[in-house]
Amino acid sequence: MKKGLILITGATGYIGSHTVVELTASGYDVVGVDNFYNSTDDIVGRIGKIIGNNEGKFYFEKADCSDPVEFERVFEKYPNIVGAIHFAACKAVNESVHKPLLYYRNNIVSLLNLIRLMRERAQTANIVFSSSCTVYGQPEMEELPIKETAVLRRPLTPYGKTKQMAEEILSDSVVAYENMNVCALRYFNPIGAHPSALIGELPNGVPQNLVPYITQTAAGIRDHLSVFGDDYDTPDGSCIRDYIYVVDLAKAHVKAMDKLLGREKAAPVPQENNNSPYTTAEATGRWRVYNIGTGKGVSVLELVKEFIKVTGVNLKYEIVGRREGDISQVWADPTKSCKELNWSADTPLGDVLLSAWRWQEALK
Ligand code: NAD
Ligand code: WQD
Repeated sequence: MKKGLILITGATGYIGSHTVVELTASGYDVVGVDNFYNSTDDIVGRIGKIIGNNEGKFYFEKADCSDPVEFERVFEKYPNIVGAIHFAACKAVNESVHKPLLYYRNNIVSLLNLIRLMRERAQTANIVFSSSCTVYGQPEMEELPIKETAVLRRPLTPYGKTKQMAEEILSDSVVAYENMNVCALRYFNPIGAHPSALIGELPNGVPQNLVPYITQTAAGIRDHLSVFGDDYDTPDGSCIRDYIYVVDLAKAHVKAMDKLLGREKAAPVPQENNNSPYTTAEATGRWRVYNIGTGKGVSVLELVKEFIKVTGVNLKYEIVGRREGDISQVWADPTKSCKELNWSADTPLGDVLLSAWRWQEALK
C-alpha cells in the first residue's frame, strides 16, 4: 500500500541511505536531498540498486538545506510531501570544537529552513529528527539504563549543543504551531552496514568511532586499535555503550513516520514525570522523544572480542590512556520506543559486526 511522499535530508549519508531503503520497502515514496558534504553521488545509484522494485519510489535532488532558496526549490518540485526525516547535519564531535560556527550554522540553519518549509509548503508538517544520546551526557549509575525522562545535561561540545538546541527549537515550534507533529529519535551508537554491502559508513580520514577503526585495522589500513582506557568503573574497565544496528535504526524511522502520520488528531497522552524540559510540548500530544538503542550495554573489549570471534580476523589492539571527554558508560532503556512505536532492535551483535566487516571488504 502506498503511504505518501517523505522528504529525507542527508539521504546519501550513513543513516539516511539505510532509511531510504527501509522507507521504500514499507511503501513510502521518498525524495532524498543531500549536498554531498559528507557523502558521494554514487550512493544514489547504490540505493537504487538495493531498492530495485520496492513498492515506494526514490527521487533524488542535490541541494543544500542551509540555503533557503535551493531548499525551497525541492518543495516547489514536490508539492505532495507529507513528512520529513531530517538527517542533514555535520556530526564530527571533535571537529565541532574547532569549527563551532560551521556546526551552529549548518545544523541549526538547516533545521530552521526545514521547519519553515514544512509548515508553508508541505501537506502536513510531520518531522522526525535525528537526535542523539549525547543529550544525556554522563548519567549517574542509578539512571542506567537511561530513560527519555532523565535529566538532560549540558553537552560538552558544539555538536552536542546543536542537538539539544534542535530539540528545544522543535518542541517550542510544536507548542506554537498547531500543524506540527514531531518525533525526536535519540540514537545511541549506530554501527554496521546493509547486508548487500552496497551502502555503509564512510568515515572521512582517520576514523574517530570505534567500529570503523576496528574494521580498518582488521583490513590492514591501521596498524592497531587503541582501546581508550581499561580503568573505568565497569566490569572489564573499558567504556560501555549501546551499539545499535543501522538497519534496525532505519526501521525505527519507518515506525516513527507511521506514528506521526497516524496520530495527527490524537489526544494528549499523560507523561510519567520527570525532569523533562518539554512538559508543555508533551502536553500537546504532538511532541515525542524516543530512545533508539538495544537496551544492552557492551564494553569496548567485549565488542573487540566479538569481532574477532565472528570474523576470525586477528585484530591487534593495545590498551592506552582514556580519551578526553569520554563518558564511562551509557545504554538505553528502549521500553518507550518498543511500546509506542512497536519497534525493537533485534539483530545480534555478531551479525552486525559481520556486516561492518563485509562493508569494509567491499570498499577495497
Ligand atoms: P552522515 O554525515 O553520514 O550523513 C549526513 C548527510 O547529510 C551527509 O550525506 C551530508 O552530505 C549531508 N548534509 C550535511 N549538511 C547538509 C546540508 N546543509 N544540506 C544537505 N545535506 C547535508 O551522518 P549520519 O551518521 O548518517 O548521521 C545522520 C544524522 O544522525 C545526523 O544529524 C547526526 O548528527 C545524527 N546522529 C548520528 C549518530 C552517529 O553516530 N552516526 C549518532 C546520533 C545522531
Ligand atoms: C565508542 C567507545 C571510546 C575509538 C560518539 C559521539 C556521540 C554519538 C556517537 C552522534 C568509546 C572507544 C573509540 C577508538 C576506542 N554521535 N574507542 N578506540 O564516543 O560513544 O559517541 O558517536 O551523535 O555523540 O560522541 O562513540 O565510537 O567514538 O566510541 O577505544 O579508536 O569506543 O573510548 O568508549 P562515542 P565512539
